Amino acid sequence: MKTMIVTGGAGFIGSNFVIYMLNKYNDIKIINLDKLTYAGNLENLKCVQDNKNYVFVQGDICDSELIDKLFREYDISHVINFAAESHVDRSITDPDIFIKTNVGGTANLLNIARKYWEVDGKYKEGVKYLQVSTDEVYGSLGDTGFFMETTPLDPHSPYSASKAGGDLIVKAYADTYGMPVNITRCSNNYGPYQFPEKLIPLMINNALTKKSLPVYGDGKNIRDWLYVEDHCSAIDMVLHNGKPGEVYNVGGHNERENIHIVKTIIGYLREHVDSTIDESLIKYVEDRKGHDRRYGIDPEKIKRELGWYPVTTFEVGIEKTIKWYLDNKEWMNNITSGDYQNYYKSMYEKG
Ligand code: NAD
Ligand code: DAU
Repeated sequence: MKTMIVTGGAGFIGSNFVIYMLNKYNDIKIINLDKLTYAGNLENLKCVQDNKNYVFVQGDICDSELIDKLFREYDISHVINFAAESHVDRSITDPDIFIKTNVGGTANLLNIARKYWEVDGKYKEGVKYLQVSTDEVYGSLGDTGFFMETTPLDPHSPYSASKAGGDLIVKAYADTYGMPVNITRCSNNYGPYQFPEKLIPLMINNALTKKSLPVYGDGKNIRDWLYVEDHCSAIDMVLHNGKPGEVYNVGGHNERENIHIVKTIIGYLREHVDSTIDESLIKYVEDRKGHDRRYGIDPEKIKRELGWYPVTTFEVGIEKTIKWYLDNKEWMNNITSGDYQNYYKSMYEKG
């Protein structure tokens, strides 16, 4: 039985990963360590809460005493670090917590893992630290080319800079102490349980409630979309077979302009839910500061070395996602009825 700490397991990708792993394996125990910030939601994990191989611990990855206690209590073989402040817009208005969690928290996890895993200068057999990172650390692309693992880091937002900082500390622990680590850098995820501050769930929720659909700038910024379950399978493969010290980019060549995503959502809802939902809801608003123009991942390395490939096309994934939000209106209402209103007003209903 392997015992893994999954941090940030109550967030969007983390909760999908916890569910994916517990459904797939009977011989792993998962300790989900999550601070339950505004983005953490235990409702996401209802289907696994009684699983005997699942333990939830509320806590902060910056809390060294707590992490030390978990390593003392459990024979931890893997740390998968999802925990982060993850939203670019929030990082622009309040960068400090991004540095604390995404840089400081990462360093704290590495320090304690090293304390328990390094014996006489060698690492215990079978241990690994996996840092879940992002394509945003590479910065922005022009009209052509893709991000490769060798692309220099050039982050632009406080969020992406803090993620790049975390990645560099992970690299330093591999280079200096020989710690067995991997870093995955994935493109934009979408799917169930994504917090409605992010483009796709925000647009679905706004369209359903007949609010305007705020498109930043000219709407032509490009993101490379991956269905969340495909990201989970990539992390699972890197965790088990990734070569220690290596970085793996994860993406499925699904580049779309933001305006295309918004129009796809409108089209689906208009056809299947309410014929009065139409493009007149689109409202072009002030652009995001430092807005990266285009992301595009080259996933050749993870395909070649580990045999990973995405199984969900964008057309199938976006339909599944919209249907999920339609079937889970209560989940959305529980989130958007609370503090979310203050966030929404500060972002979209200024002045
Ligand atoms: P999310 O915001 O939905 O979830 C983050 C989770 O981390 C929440 O449950 C939150 O409570 C928890 N958390 C925050 N600070 C914490 C702390 N100090 N200690 C413990 N828990 C804490 O984020 P997400 O979209 O699921 O992203 C997860 C990870 O994947 C992040 O590291 C992010 O950088 C990375 N990533 C995200 C995407 C994407 O498209 N969403 C793509 C590539 C990589
Ligand atoms: O690329 C991976 C990254 O994807 C992750 O590392 C981040 O954690 C995740 O939040 C995401 O970042 P983005 O900034 O790309 O995602 P977001 O959903 O915030 O925005 C997607 C695009 O849509 C971006 O170009 C900004 C635009 N946008 C976003 C919102 C919320 C709008 O036009 N209107 C909006 O209201």
